[in-house]
Amino acid sequence: MRFSDAFLQQLRDKNDIESVLAPYVNLRRAGRNLVGLCPFHGEKTPSFTVYPEDQTYHCYGCGEHGNVITFVRKIQNLSYYDAVKYLADRAGLRMPDDTFDDGMDRLRKRCLAANREAARFYYSCLLNEEGKQGLDYLLSRGLKPETIRHFGLGFAPNRWDSLKRFLNAKGYRDDELEQFNLLRKSPKGHYYDAFRNRVMFPIINLSGDVIAFGGRVMDDSKPKYLNSSDTIVYKKRRGIFALNFAKNGPEKKLILCEGYMDVISMHQYGFTNTVAGLGTALTDEQANLLSRYADEIYICYDSDEAGRKAADRAVGIFSKVNVKIKVLHIAGGKDPDEVLKNHGPERMRMILNDALNDTEFKLSEAKNAQDLSTNNGRLNYANAAAEILASLPNPVERELYTNVVAGEVGLPPDSIAAQITKIRRARQKKEERSRFDTVARNTLGVVKNEFYPVGTPRVVIAAEEQLLASLMRNPDFYRAVKSEVAAEDFVSPVNRRIFAAIADAADKTDRIDPYFFEELFSPEEMSHVSGLTERFGTLGNTLQECRDYINTMKKHTIESGQTEIGKLDNAAFLQALQNIKNNKL
Ligand code: GTP
Ligand code: MN
Repeated sequence: MRFSDAFLQQLRDKNDIESVLAPYVNLRRAGRNLVGLCPFHGEKTPSFTVYPEDQTYHCYGCGEHGNVITFVRKIQNLSYYDAVKYLADRAGLRMPDDTFDDGMDRLRKRCLAANREAARFYYSCLLNEEGKQGLDYLLSRGLKPETIRHFGLGFAPNRWDSLKRFLNAKGYRDDELEQFNLLRKSPKGHYYDAFRNRVMFPIINLSGDVIAFGGRVMDDSKPKYLNSSDTIVYKKRRGIFALNFAKNGPEKKLILCEGYMDVISMHQYGFTNTVAGLGTALTDEQANLLSRYADEIYICYDSDEAGRKAADRAVGIFSKVNVKIKVLHIAGGKDPDEVLKNHGPERMRMILNDALNDTEFKLSEAKNAQDLSTNNGRLNYANAAAEILASLPNPVERELYTNVVAGEVGLPPDSIAAQITKIRRARQKKEERSRFDTVARNTLGVVKNEFYPVGTPRVVIAAEEQLLASLMRNPDFYRAVKSEVAAEDFVSPVNRRIFAAIADAADKTDRIDPYFFEELFSPEEMSHVSGLTERFGTLGNTLQECRDYINTMKKHTIESGQTEIGKLDNAAFLQALQNIKNNKL
């Protein structure tokens, strides 16, 4: 649907950008603006700037731009509609009545209700004669009846239509159940249960709603686990299993395991702050979500090669969010579930106590990769350690570990310290250069090259962007040139759509505000759209300029990517020259 401009205006007025961003970014004043560390990329010096006058933000580090809606969409990973709803709720505004929105809302509620019914059904099957096999399996894995009840585990019978019949009788249609991932449809059009002959793990969100399921076979057949794919209420890459239970712990510490059974065992033995990421590998979104409920995260992955690799990756992902990391070394079993079963919770407590912090973990990985009994191995380890320690911002910490490593390799600490200093200097230089490049790129000319076909000349990119920026600033220009330019003249598909959106809006308003385009573009595209308007200030803004841009674009289209300077007319030539100068800085 389209929200009315009046509603969107009200939404913006009631959601001041500073207060919307406050929970996510520590902002401090810098003149008329505010700056802070960018929540969208890892950085140590603030390049994230908020402009209260425009109610927009811009990161000079990664190029993110936007308004309150863009921000909420990105940071909370919400659809446009949900972001608007979030901001409306926040401001105490009533959402406008509209069938489409109610439709989405109703569908979401219905999906949750169907999932809840399904969870009830699976649970009741576990207690039936039919589910005896499932119950026996869970008990044989050492789960107590109260654990089974607490997690609402269940059993999907070995039939094609048991859930289907149950939910049909409650009034749910096959097609909607397929959409909710509870049923599947055969090529011939028959609907059947998605989960059969499996023990079932309901996945519950932070509001206590069942949003998806995992199902495990009871023998060695494959696939071992079957998981719901994404639905209107479930996004796997944001999913955390058992966070609904773990989030309420007395300490802000979470233990992150690999699988359902590990989590459930850990809870049974009293480690109720344990969770697992859903999907195969930890995602940035999951790390972000976890960091909101924990100051410290214990990574507790399997002891095999795959688990160690996954831990390596996880340490990297967590380094981008503000949370302390500890890595456990699981010994005495392949995973936490086995450790608990083989040795009991005391052993687990010891493992937790011996956890390595991220520096210790990285050093131990580097050390294990080398043979320290040889000169070559010691040298390699010393160099790898210097690379790791060079990333530590705290000099005391650096010195501490430098001494440890020096002892391990039998070198004086000073030589390792010298190496670290060298690496830090080189990195600093590199960082400054890339910061400078990014700032230059984001302030003048090209913002996001991914919106253009490879090889698009810079003059053309600049012409498209400056034209769009001019037209948005001055819809009168649009009316003047609309017969001279068409969407097809833009090489970038996104720019074509922006042009269409401008055409649509130009009749209604005397200044086009990208805020009102939010519905039409993805958050990444919105970043590009509002990036254009960032450059309003650098435009001379005459109608002639617009015509020059159009000329440049058309020449490019005709010569299909071969803008030859020699063929441009005088005005286009001067413009091209100017643009090249600008872009080169
Ligand atoms: P148990 O054998 O039940 O103890 O499982 P585990 O937790 O020891 O399993 P494993 O280490 O094999 O896998 C860890 C996690 O990876 C599981 O909990 C699942 O979330 C996921 N996983 C494992 N096997 C599969 C599979 O075949 N398909 C999918 N989609 N996920 C799987
Ligand atoms: Mn296991």
